[in-house]
Amino acid sequence: MKQKTVFLCGDCGYESPKWYGKCPSCGAWNTMSEFKEKPVSAARGTNTFQRGESRPTLLKDIDTGDESRFHSGIGELDRVLGGGAVHGSFVLVGGEPGIGKSTLLLQMCQEMCKNARVLYVSGEESLKQIKIRAARLHISSPELYILAETDMEQIINETELLEPDILIVDSIQTVYKRDLTAAPGGTTQIKECAMSLMQYAKNRNVTIFIVGHVNKEGTLAGPKILEHMVDCVLYFEGESAGPFRCLRAAKNRYGSTNEIGVFEMSDHGLLEVQNPSAAMLAGHPQGASGNCIACVMEGSRPLLAEVQALAAKTQFGVPRRTAAGVDYNRMVLLLAILEKRCGLFLSSSDVYVNVVGGMRLDEPAVDLPMVLAIASSFRDKPLPEGVMSFGEVGLTGELRAVSNPGQRINEAYRLGFHTCIMPMQDVDEDLLQKMNIVRAKTVGDAIRAVL
Ligand SMILES: Nc1ncnc2c1ncn2[C@@H]1O[C@H](COP(=O)(O)OP(=O)(O)O)[C@@H](O)[C@H]1O
Ligand SMILES: [Mg+2]
Repeated sequence: MKQKTVFLCGDCGYESPKWYGKCPSCGAWNTMSEFKEKPVSAARGTNTFQRGESRPTLLKDIDTGDESRFHSGIGELDRVLGGGAVHGSFVLVGGEPGIGKSTLLLQMCQEMCKNARVLYVSGEESLKQIKIRAARLHISSPELYILAETDMEQIINETELLEPDILIVDSIQTVYKRDLTAAPGGTTQIKECAMSLMQYAKNRNVTIFIVGHVNKEGTLAGPKILEHMVDCVLYFEGESAGPFRCLRAAKNRYGSTNEIGVFEMSDHGLLEVQNPSAAMLAGHPQGASGNCIACVMEGSRPLLAEVQALAAKTQFGVPRRTAAGVDYNRMVLLLAILEKRCGLFLSSSDVYVNVVGGMRLDEPAVDLPMVLAIASSFRDKPLPEGVMSFGEVGLTGELRAVSNPGQRINEAYRLGFHTCIMPMQDVDEDLLQKMNIVRAKTVGDAIRAVL
């Protein structure tokens, strides 16, 4: 059969029979390169589910066995997975290089080895390097198998011999299939290798974890092509310089995608952060202008974090705005609202917003604390001690209700806050006893209440 030539975009994985200077899908220039694909029947031959299984079956007759899960011994990881890794599931762990993916997966082996046979395949480190890392992490499982290999065929062969219950491939960018001409790490290789692993996971009921590095733009190299085929996508994020790491599920076929896991990187590996709010608030400056404590919901848990802002006079030209940990466009929108609805003339000020601890707060409830922090910096007046807030801001400057006010207030109370600035929404009577609750209709009212 004739080999088919295709052109693939190195950034987004867009596939086309024709070459384009600019990728029609993601708009990147000069990213399309040529690949020779194997004839379809041969290439897909290994990719079909076991023949004979693919017959229509009545829903009621499908046997699922038990939806049993492997527990990693790391509570925060199990939480994000939805209570452990489901047998036969295929999990992708993404994150920037150096964030701690290998560390997390190796630490997970320690506990998993006790009830299952685990094979850890590394295409990045030698056996010796892994041993040194394991010693540093105090991992001493006698039952853990390690393989340093990048050839996919070899990995599958060894896996078939060993028959592990859990297979970890670190990382998908380093493994390759010999019969493809494309280079390892390229879209075709990643796609085909992941496909082979997925077929293996589904046919043999093996739980597979693969590591995928994320590039600077935040997309997995050969990006969306992996997300749709796996059962679960976990992203490990945080600032490499800071100690905190946050694990989020971007997709989960076996659990909620709202839960997050919080970790701290130490010399001996990743430690679970049991009380993230307290950790995020450590070192919170007293009596300084330009900061406000926010309470956001991360899945089922309320989390307190410090939002800092600095508004300084622009030296020349266009004012600068930067946002770390909050959405940039949201910040710009809030600045416009402050200017238009509250008369804070920020158009000649540079504004910098940062969330302490490297956490990313994407919930709308962070709007009000962000506005208060900016207003506090602009007026150079600190918020009173013990004040925290949450609430969404609308375009007319009105404050809008957010979910779970009770849980947020309780968390703030637990950490010693006594005043809460929030939108006009109902809260339980008993909360009014322990907290001084200030309900504001508009951004202007909220600012007047504390500044
Ligand atoms: N010898 C060491 N001592 C202390 N911390 C280390 C050591 N080696 C690595 N680390 C920490 O582990 C991180 C690397 O984690 P790793 O799991 O290899 O990342 P990834 O697999 O995501 O690229 C480093 O950024 C560093 O913080
Ligand atoms: Mg690694």
